[in-house]
Amino acid sequence: MYTVFKKIPPSIVALLLQFSAVAITLFSFRAAGWHSSPLAVALLCGMLAAAFSYVAGLAKWWWVIQLLFAPALVLMLAVGLPPGLFLAAFLLLMLVYWSTFRTQVPLYLSSDKVWQALEKLLPAVRADGFSFVDLGSGLGGVLTYLAAARPDGRYMGVEAAPLPFFWSWLRIRLGAYRNCRVRWGSLWDCNLSEYDVVFAYLSPVPMEQLWHKARAEMRPGTRFISSTFLVLDHPPQATVEVDDLHHSTLYIWQM
Ligand SMILES: C[S@@+](CC[C@H](N)C(=O)[O-])C[C@H]1O[C@@H](n2cnc3c(N)ncnc32)[C@H](O)[C@@H]1O
Repeated sequence: MYTVFKKIPPSIVALLLQFSAVAITLFSFRAAGWHSSPLAVALLCGMLAAAFSYVAGLAKWWWVIQLLFAPALVLMLAVGLPPGLFLAAFLLLMLVYWSTFRTQVPLYLSSDKVWQALEKLLPAVRADGFSFVDLGSGLGGVLTYLAAARPDGRYMGVEAAPLPFFWSWLRIRLGAYRNCRVRWGSLWDCNLSEYDVVFAYLSPVPMEQLWHKARAEMRPGTRFISSTFLVLDHPPQATVEVDDLHHSTLYIWQM
């Protein structure tokens, strides 16, 4: 059934289903003249929203979110926290996650063991150096580590979310990394022909589109590396297993 909504981001589908569950529950209570505690009504809303999400084919974690959303709302209202606190939390999360509801690529960071594995995949030292881009550069950890470890490279990051961008910009400025830059913007506006190594740690969602972009723009002999996420029907030429907490894998395509 989710194919019906395929073009709509799952977060919007979840919101619509939550609204429908609340409307149906409140309407049924009113029509039948039932009375119950707000928490019990919220629990019913949650169960209905979770059932709708299951039928709509949303991922499992949405079922849990849908189930708990209305009860959590009622409980939080009962605590009586100042409304400004919720606004502040919302603004903070918005600045960190920005367009995640649309891109379906949230912020999570690669481990220092991934950085070390990446260092081994950089081109050999040569007179004219090399260029590296991190598409969705998060807090700039990959860039600053590599910039220090291999100062013969030129490093660029592109990051869409304002707070991670600002954090990495500051990190680069304060660390005085002269061979490293970060740009606030979309990875889709990045010209990949400028780079010898393109690195991405995103999510399964953009991988097919990114693969087409890489194939169209990257120069022969350059290297595309994806952490964790494969491209369907296009097996990598090499993989590197990383012994970190998430057992990350680096997938490597030579263009
Ligand atoms: C999983 S994090 C990876 C962070 C970093 N590369 C690392 O390895 O630690 C993915 C990042 O990509 C960013 N992102 C998602 N879609 C993007 C887009 N279209 N353009 C630029 N950045 C994007 C997110 O905001 C997030 O910070």
